[in-house]
Amino acid sequence: MNILITGGAGFIGSHLVRRFVNNYPNYKIVNFDKLTYAGNLENLRDIESKPNYSFVKGDICDAAFVEKTLAENNITAIIHLAAESHVDRSISNPMEFIQTNIVGTVALLNSAKHFWAGNFEGKRFYHVSTDEVYGSLGETGFFTEETPYDPHSPYSASKASSDHLVRAYSDTFGLPAVISNCSNNYGSHHFPEKLIPLAINNIKNMKSVPVYGKGENVRDWLFVEDHASAIDLIFHKAENGETYNIGGHNEWKNLDLILLLCQVMDRKLNRKPGTSEGLITYVKDRAGHDLRYAIDASKLQNKLGWKPSLQFEEGLERTVDWYLANEEWLNRITSGDYQKYYSDQYVTR
Ligand code: NAD
Ligand code: DAU
Repeated sequence: MNILITGGAGFIGSHLVRRFVNNYPNYKIVNFDKLTYAGNLENLRDIESKPNYSFVKGDICDAAFVEKTLAENNITAIIHLAAESHVDRSISNPMEFIQTNIVGTVALLNSAKHFWAGNFEGKRFYHVSTDEVYGSLGETGFFTEETPYDPHSPYSASKASSDHLVRAYSDTFGLPAVISNCSNNYGSHHFPEKLIPLAINNIKNMKSVPVYGKGENVRDWLFVEDHASAIDLIFHKAENGETYNIGGHNEWKNLDLILLLCQVMDRKLNRKPGTSEGLITYVKDRAGHDLRYAIDASKLQNKLGWKPSLQFEEGLERTVDWYLANEEWLNRITSGDYQKYYSDQYVTR
């Protein structure tokens, strides 16, 4: 198989690329990424010289270039992760989300449809989406694959729109598509604008840890490598047209999660217990802030036998350890230096 993975230089994409490159030496993996602020090729330094890996810098909105890349690499499957992914940025700049997440997904669908030219045998278009398309839960209940879409932020509305378009291409043109909707991921290489890496970085530097509203919003956290293992399974085993929810059955109120993280950080940094907790600062709530997400992943468990490999406490320890051991990675992001990696690394090739 020759697989184009879009957004492979991002957080989840880089874990997925690494997994596929290492586990499937007979597949050709092409990482297609625009390298926005969220794309960082340093995430893939350990596998970049493997013979079954290559990188193409490109924009999914540029259908002609995408199609050229599909043709040059004789691509038989696409796993689509490229997106604008941060809810807060979608509130301050919705248009970028419409452009990348909606227009970009349609451009990619068109390129695949055109390149495969109706010969869909052995082909696959896998769209990676989010639980946020389902909206917000009250105190009880779970999102299933049948939950009606009810997005609230420009980010989740753009992802919902892209999901609908993928289904439309499957229903109308027979494009062999599958979709998964996953809950909040955490782990290494997570860009430090999202809650967990931002809090780790701030606690490390004795800076305040911003908690939106009262910290009562609930998220269902999944270790990123478990998301990658679920994508791997669904990619290989799902039937065309299917949707799978992916989640950790691991709900945490934001404040409880931050309190746990503070304890872990105090211990790891040999600080007096309670030191980090003193950094918690309540700030203005996010506009349209969804109260609770929680995934029912029983379809994935029952049909394909997937379950998360880690307990949250262990995953969080591993995540903190990674950030403390990779200060350089974090410093290069906060200083912006990571964006030079592409020109330094690839111009001479
Ligand atoms: P990320 O922001 O870390 O990475 C996004 C990647 O896409 C970056 O490498 C960026 O350079 C690339 N990209 C952006 N616009 C592009 C374009 N026009 N053309 C080509 N590449 C482009 O995102 P992430 O957190 O790794 O999320 C990946 C996917 O998974 C997204 O589709 C997101 O909606 C979905 N998702 C994320 C989570 C989560 O918790 N992070 C949970 C469920 C689903
Ligand atoms: O549910 C899946 C989604 O999870 C993905 O689709 C998104 O791409 C991903 O970014 C994530 O969205 P969230 O908005 O849930 O993640 P974020 O890390 O931005 O925020 C997690 C929770 O923490 C949320 O309730 C807002 C809150 N928060 C966030 C930040 C950055 C804070 O309280 N303080 C903060 O500084």
